Amino acid sequence: MGEYRFNLEAGGNLEYLNDMEFQLVRNIISQERAYIMYDYFLSKYDSGDFYDPQVFGASSFYKDIEVYKLQFDLLEVMQKKTGRKLYTTYNYTRVYNNKSYLDEHTDREACEVTLDICMGYQGDYVWPIWMKDNNNQKHYVDLKPGDGLIYDGLHTSHGRDKADDRVQRQVNCFFHYVDADGPYKNYILDLFRKNQMR
Ligand SMILES: [Fe+2]
Repeated sequence: MGEYRFNLEAGGNLEYLNDMEFQLVRNIISQERAYIMYDYFLSKYDSGDFYDPQVFGASSFYKDIEVYKLQFDLLEVMQKKTGRKLYTTYNYTRVYNNKSYLDEHTDREACEVTLDICMGYQGDYVWPIWMKDNNNQKHYVDLKPGDGLIYDGLHTSHGRDKADDRVQRQVNCFFHYVDADGPYKNYILDLFRKNQMR
């Protein structure tokens, strides 16, 4: 990884992911489309997987078909933002609640390029994700509905502080891709996953 040079406050350089840890892209999808996904997942809340080993206390969905449709729509913009040809691997959605937490971690290979979009949340509090830069500094990112955060999940540590009662329901979809010319291209569509949900 190169030196840290993305400045959230300044809006950042959105052109390249190479050598960069993360990029914030406001309104990568419209707020209207985000709210459709939000309502969709609230309606499915009870049927999600509550045994996600990574996030305690969340309802989770692996490879949801509606998220795949959006993911294929986003492929072109993701390729532009990262400057890479990408293959789609999988998607994962979580509906967080006031008991959720996410320890600091890095992701598996199929998440070489990840896009996190917030689809909506109850109330006026966004439960932020944080990313660590090369100087071990945490950067909290508030994503409003429709905003996206692009990051290299393999090399950039990230997590969330423990949720509290300000978090009632919050829906985030994670779209995972790999570099089509890179070492993880065989993870296309995540066909060979072994006992690793997220
Ligand atoms: Fe992650």
